[in-house]
Amino acid sequence: MLNNMPQIAIAPMLDWTDRHYRYFMRKISKKTILYTEMVVADAIIHGDRDKLLEFNPEEQHVVLQLGGSNPEKLATSTKIAVEYGYQEINLNCGCPSDRVQSGKFGACLMKEPELVADCIKAMQEVVSIPVTVKQRIGLDYDYDYDYCAKFVETIANAGCKSFIIHARNAVLKGLSPKDNREIPPLRYDYVYQLKKDFPDLNIMLNGGIKTTTDMINHLELVDGVMLGREAYYNPYLFANFDNQFFADNNPLRTRKEIALDMISYLENHLAQGHRLHHVTRHMIGLYHGCKKAKLWRQQLTTNIIKSNNIKDYIDLLGIMDE
Ligand SMILES: Cc1cc2nc3c(=O)[nH]c(=O)nc-3n(C[C@H](O)[C@H](O)[C@H](O)COP(=O)(O)O)c2cc1C
Repeated sequence: MLNNMPQIAIAPMLDWTDRHYRYFMRKISKKTILYTEMVVADAIIHGDRDKLLEFNPEEQHVVLQLGGSNPEKLATSTKIAVEYGYQEINLNCGCPSDRVQSGKFGACLMKEPELVADCIKAMQEVVSIPVTVKQRIGLDYDYDYDYCAKFVETIANAGCKSFIIHARNAVLKGLSPKDNREIPPLRYDYVYQLKKDFPDLNIMLNGGIKTTTDMINHLELVDGVMLGREAYYNPYLFANFDNQFFADNNPLRTRKEIALDMISYLENHLAQGHRLHHVTRHMIGLYHGCKKAKLWRQQLTTNIIKSNNIKDYIDLLGIMDE
C-alpha cells in the first residue's frame, strides 16, 4: 500500500490523548492523524461541551471518538462535534471495560452489527465528514474470521468506508481493559485478510506496533497504521515520520527544539490559571532512551509539579541535551 499516501495515526487513549498531548504531538509530526479520548454521546448532549470538545486549531487533523449505541444521540453529538471543527468522527466498537458494556457500547457492539450500521447511517446523514469505526477482530475466545468480516461488511453496507482494526479479540468478562490490550493474541493476518477481501475499504491496523520497521511491514498490506502506547511512551519516534512517510523535506527537529517550542503554550496555559503539569505530564517520554531520560522524567514529575513555574522548565531545558 506504500504507493498511496499511508495513514499514520495515534490511537484514542482515555486520560492520555487529551488536547495538551495532541498539541505536543503536533509539534513533533504535522501529518500524523490525532484522535481524542473517547467521549460519550450523552456527555456531549447533556454536559459541558466546550470542556469536552474544544481544541486548538493547530492540532488538526483531529478525529473525535464517540462512545454510544443510540443512533439518534450519536447523530446529535456528531452534528455538535462538526460545529467544533472536527474533521472526522469515529465510533468506538473496541473498548471492553465494564462501565462501557453497562452503557451498551464499545466492544460489545460487535455482537450487534445491525445496530452499529444504524448508528453509522444516522451519523452520516447529518454530516459530510467521514464517519469511521474502531473495532476488535472478535469477542471473547472465538477466533472466527468470518464473524469479523461479516461485521465489517454489514457496517460497510451502511456506508462506512474506513475501519481501524485493533488486531486482538476483546474478552468481555474476566479481563481488565489493560489485560485486554495485552493478553488476547495479536492476529495481524485477520487485518491483512480484511484488506484483501474488501480492497475498496480503507483498513488501518492497530495493536502492538513499536517500531518504524513494524509500520513499514504492515503498510505493505494495509492502508494505515495506528499506534497507541508506543506513541505515548516514546513520542519522539514520530519526529521523522513526516519526512519518511509523507515526503516532507523539513530538517529533523531535536527533542530540545520541540520542548522549547512548547514554552509559549505552557505560558498561555499558566496564564489561564491552570497547572503546568496538565501539559508536562504528557511530555515525560520525550527523552525516552536518551542519557538524560531519567533526569527529565524526575524533574517533570517532582520539581515542575511542585513549583508550577515556567522558569524551572526553562532552566531544565538549559541542562538537557539536544
Ligand atoms: C490508557 C489507554 C486508554 C485507552 N483508551 C481508549 C479509548 O478511549 N478508545 C479506544 O478506542 N481505545 C482506547 N485504548 C486502546 C488504544 O486505542 C489501542 O487500541 C490499544 O492501546 C492498542 O494499541 P497499541 O498496542 O499501539 O497501544 C486505550 C489504550 C490505553 C493504553
